[in-house]
Amino acid sequence: MSVLDAAAAPVSDLDPYAEEFLRDPYPRQQQLREAGAVVWLSRHRLWAVTRHEEVDTVLRDPQTYCSSRGVGLADFARETPWRPPSLLLEADPPQHTAARHAITAVLGPRTVREMRQAFESRAQQLVEELVRGGSFDAIHDLAERFPLTAMSDQIGVPQDGREHLLVYGALAFQAFGPRNERTERSLREGEQAAAWVAEHTRLSELRPGGLGARIHASAVEHGFSEQHAELLVRSVLTAGIDTTVIAIGNALWLLARHPEQWAALRDDPSLARTAFEEGIRVETPIQVFCRTTTRAVQLAGVPLAEGDKLLLLLAGANRDPRRWEDPERFEIRRSASGHVGFGAGIHACVGQMIARLEGEAVLSALAARVQTLEPAGEPRRLIHNTLRALSSLPLRVVAR
Ligand code: HEM
Repeated sequence: MSVLDAAAAPVSDLDPYAEEFLRDPYPRQQQLREAGAVVWLSRHRLWAVTRHEEVDTVLRDPQTYCSSRGVGLADFARETPWRPPSLLLEADPPQHTAARHAITAVLGPRTVREMRQAFESRAQQLVEELVRGGSFDAIHDLAERFPLTAMSDQIGVPQDGREHLLVYGALAFQAFGPRNERTERSLREGEQAAAWVAEHTRLSELRPGGLGARIHASAVEHGFSEQHAELLVRSVLTAGIDTTVIAIGNALWLLARHPEQWAALRDDPSLARTAFEEGIRVETPIQVFCRTTTRAVQLAGVPLAEGDKLLLLLAGANRDPRRWEDPERFEIRRSASGHVGFGAGIHACVGQMIARLEGEAVLSALAARVQTLEPAGEPRRLIHNTLRALSSLPLRVVAR
């Protein structure tokens, strides 16, 4: 980017990776959004895309805004990625198209329908246990336990060592940020988890008939090598557990803090699905993702050069008053469709139907069994480069 180009655009020295930003991101995201649709972040020398319309435009134009140069801060054209790039997330067409076909052949609507019953009964069983105890840590005892059991069973990884999936998910998303102390620590602490995940992408380690084994087989049928089939299985192990843990935890936190919204859900458990969706809009689990320009282009009147990095504020877009009425309000009856918490365009989350099913199963099981749901202590926030998550959420429930 030339100095002249920078002069044409708003500039901010806000640091989206500073602890105070991550602890309370929304006022600062708003500041950036009001400064302009595209803002030069001088500390990291990249562009923030701040509003719903422009974030959506970028997500839907992979020819101009590519993923193969990394969807984090690192530019794969200049830096070596910390692990072999994903064949889905960090790929462009036509390579991406082939990988996407191989995975959607498995994660289609039929698979999702077949999972419903197992998810619902697991959620009911967990809620029953928690209601008996009266108070619990909603992150550890529910948000983590549900995907770690119900979803990991579906993927077909062994019981032993599953907790590595949480550490690995957190590491992969941490590494999308700068190489700061948070990333360094996650890399150190995630070494064992990374080895476990690599091992459990192998066909021999996956339960026959499970999602993992089926993705592996589908990849081979679609002409991918054994090694690439393992990388496709890795996509589900990376993105399929930690993300839903966070989304469920955030939804529980919102419901506990908004008793009138909880009451609406309890009185009509069929709102579970829209409540989960609204939770993703208001407390977007993956706050940011990047793209890199493949050519010089103008975005919202701002000239971008080839090779520029763009930080898409997904969470900022989901609270953009230009798109949402009263965007800060958590309102489970609103239609949150059109939010970019699952992305948009060709890279839109391939597991979103599964994630929704998980959220719906947990929230409707709670709504059916619990009269009051309230905080039982201070929650603890995880300060993370990419994820908006709690590490602890004490709750108290009274049975219906
Ligand atoms: C609430 C939970 C989840 C959230 C918030 C979420 C969010 C996202 C987002 C924002 C993207 C778009 C990335 C981009 O545009 O660069 C994405 C892609 C992806 N997600 Fe999810 N996700 C969730 C659950 C899942 C689950 C359960 C799975 C697997 C079963 C999954 C697998 C993937 C994969 C493989 C991609 C890459 C797709 C591609 O590049 O074509 N996600 N997710």
